[in-house]
Amino acid sequence: MKKSSLLFILAAVIILAGSSFDYFNSDITDNNEVILIPQDPADAEYPEGAKIFKVKCVVCHQVTGEGLPGAFPPLKNSDYLLADKKRAVAQVLNGSNEAMVVNGQTYTVPMPPQVESLEEAVQVINYVLNAWGNKGGTITLDEVKDIKKVR
Ligand code: HEC
Repeated sequence: MKKSSLLFILAAVIILAGSSFDYFNSDITDNNEVILIPQDPADAEYPEGAKIFKVKCVVCHQVTGEGLPGAFPPLKNSDYLLADKKRAVAQVLNGSNEAMVVNGQTYTVPMPPQVESLEEAVQVINYVLNAWGNKGGTITLDEVKDIKKVR
């Protein structure tokens, strides 16, 4: 192969590799490792909820929203979540301590309360209803105003 065509291929690979990074956000962990997080359109649409998710929920439900089978249920494509938005708001506000079946699998580990206010609960639920390709619609603060913080 001619040297010029090799150079051309090399340039193409560099350009392609560079542009693929446009699809990722990067973050730096405590150990100074750079991690790449796939960008989700919901991050821009629901910025407050995205922030709450990334601070409070990722440890269990994971950046992918897929959870950990058998321990932490998925939020991506979760039949349980998508069936009842109001119940989801109540769960993040007050926690959840009952066995539940999510996409055919039973989960029994309790979830501690996650947020301090109903407003934050609505923000994060609107994010998860629309992240990872979920098409769960949205819920307003007005629709859940009768939910009280009990824990
Ligand atoms: C300490 C781990 C942990 C954290 C942190 C956590 N969850 Fe959960 N989550 C769970 C567990 C465990 C369950 C199942 C609870 C049960 O069986 O009662 C659950 C259940 C759920 C459910 C209902 C089930 C489903 O998959 O649809 C939703 C919705 C949910 N969590 C949202 C959130 C959101 C939003 C946050 C962040 C604000 C969050 N969780 C933070 C562990 C966690």
